[in-house]
Amino acid sequence: MGQGVLSTGFTRVDGVLYCEGVSLELIASEVGTPVYVYSAETIRDRYRRLDRILSPVPHRIHYTLKANSSRGVLAVLKDLGAGVDVVSGGELQRALLAGFAPSDIIFGGVGKTRRELAAALDAGILLINAESEAEIRLIDALAGEREIRAPVSIRVNPEITLDAPHDYIKTGGKGHKFGVPFDDAVHVAEVAAGLNHVDLVGLDMHLGSQLSRIDPYREGTERLASIFAELTKRGIDSLRYLDIGGGLGVRYDTEQPPDLQRFAAAILPTVTATGLQLIMEPGRFIVGNAGALVGRVLYRKHSGGKDYVIVDTGMTELLRPSHYGAFHRISAMRDRGDARQVDVVGPVCESGDFLALDRELDDVQPGDYIVVADTGAYGYVMASNYNSRLRPAEVMVDGDRFAVITARESLADLTRLEVDAPEWHVAAATIDGGGR
Ligand code: LLP
Repeated sequence: MGQGVLSTGFTRVDGVLYCEGVSLELIASEVGTPVYVYSAETIRDRYRRLDRILSPVPHRIHYTLKANSSRGVLAVLKDLGAGVDVVSGGELQRALLAGFAPSDIIFGGVGKTRRELAAALDAGILLINAESEAEIRLIDALAGEREIRAPVSIRVNPEITLDAPHDYIKTGGKGHKFGVPFDDAVHVAEVAAGLNHVDLVGLDMHLGSQLSRIDPYREGTERLASIFAELTKRGIDSLRYLDIGGGLGVRYDTEQPPDLQRFAAAILPTVTATGLQLIMEPGRFIVGNAGALVGRVLYRKHSGGKDYVIVDTGMTELLRPSHYGAFHRISAMRDRGDARQVDVVGPVCESGDFLALDRELDDVQPGDYIVVADTGAYGYVMASNYNSRLRPAEVMVDGDRFAVITARESLADLTRLEVDAPEWHVAAATIDGGGR
């Protein structure tokens, strides 16, 4: 497509795309396609920018694993001193394996199981963001069994109308499944503060994802601060953290991501007035622009008046276009000129398997590589084995070096968990024996 810069960390040098100092063509030819490639320096830059802008107040940045939980990505963030935000026992395990101290881990999510909560308590993490009174009571019981006090923040639904680009990534609006409804928050906090095995340590919110407006952050932070003030009035003085979640948008196309200076100006005075430590849970902001998905053209086809470019990657590696109608720029690895209007589609047996519709793309031919930009967040983590496809490899680039951080799945991996000779249980016997 000829543009010099595909995304931060990705540039075109002599007509070929590079990630930092490494040609994407080299990576594709050595590692194969599809492959996700990440720029370590972009991740560092994003983290440092956020850290700097929040520096006027005591703060903690807890990178949200769900955006990209590969060990190689976590290693970069750990070196920067980041904390993490996990939403399942699996992510907790990943964080611990990556070497994060339990005191740098927070655990959120609307449906935590007893086992997951127990694992979090046993690990001794910084805090659990609880989403209902029932969950807080369960945490109290589990902490009681362990004769400890569980550090708990309450995730409040700030009930703010949002500008997120798709309904599925709005979370902080009235009636959403997430968090404690705003009007119940003081009551639930009082319940938590009164329990024997719970330490009420904070208030939390998460508005939604890929947000470009700043007002919802201002409003939400003020709403949390108002709950804090009410709790203080009622004699509850155990709170230490004010967590405003993640959601900062990035540029995929023509969006205007929030200006960080204005963002800081909108929230920091309110945070300062509370005297609480600020927590943020960014995901996309840190890794979104730091990744690209490289695929290869398999075929060209003309059908029903449309030009199709059929590539070796699609919804199984990158679900976002298909699932949210999300836009990701696509470029030819090498300048080809002669742009055409095409649908870029994957090999999966679904009409919804596309990466881009009606898109101007260089006149790529079978065997050429294409690069799908800004796929560092919610890319690999949402990949699936549908059609028994193998999940792709992931590569980290750092300066002029690159390394595979996640190997491509093998055919053996695909069937690894399937039982060769299933052991049949007779239902009646199971019931008699109380087997379940
Ligand atoms: N904190 C909580 C409680 C969250 O639910 C999320 C994301 C984050 C933090 C991080 O949000 P971020 O900074 O990344 O916007 N799969 C969708 C995005 C789902 C976001 C889920 N929650 C997508 O591909 O757009």
